[in-house]
Amino acid sequence: MNKDLKKILLTEEEIKKRVCELAQDIMNDFKDEELFFIGVLKGSVVFVADLMRCVKNDVTMDFMAVSSYGLSSQTSGVVRILKDLDFDIEGKNVIIVEDIIDTGTTLKYLYEYLKKRNPKVLKICCLLDKPERRKVDIKADYIGFTIPDEFVVGYGLDFAERFRNLPYIAVVKEEAYANK
Ligand code: PRP
Ligand code: MN
Ligand code: MG
Repeated sequence: MNKDLKKILLTEEEIKKRVCELAQDIMNDFKDEELFFIGVLKGSVVFVADLMRCVKNDVTMDFMAVSSYGLSSQTSGVVRILKDLDFDIEGKNVIIVEDIIDTGTTLKYLYEYLKKRNPKVLKICCLLDKPERRKVDIKADYIGFTIPDEFVVGYGLDFAERFRNLPYIAVVKEEAYANK
């Protein structure tokens, strides 16, 4: 394991199993209806790719790019939209797919923003939830894992853009980000 990492929090196998369970929950809720997935760049890329391959429904997908963290490990609290949707979501079954809810700033903003476009249904599917860190009131409809307040990377999640390619989720050592 990389010297900046402390331990593996979730293994590749644990993630794979849970992602398929989330897909099953979504299939149970939407039966044979069409779905529109919105992946939030860049953190959700790995998760949305795996999740949509487990779902048997007709899925259309798009990405949005928003940023609140940038290269810092602390949220700035400001959400910027860097790339909006290419498609109209009015009347659609929309599921926002995110890697993690931390303070909730990103998802709260996105949820309110997309709600205004009148989707038929707007749900949130998030792999990781850190409830201890919440600053704004937002809850996901589908949650993979509730995790403690530790700095995690891998499976799409980064620390200063590194570690997104790890197939597992690991905890970063405090000394690696203490002075950043
Ligand atoms: C991270 C993460 C979530 C968001 C969660 O994204 O992927 O999108 O922060 O934090 P919040 O609940 O406090 O808003 P980041 O801004 O680091 O961009 P990235 O996805 O490109 O890594
Ligand atoms: Mn993100
Ligand atoms: Mg990030």
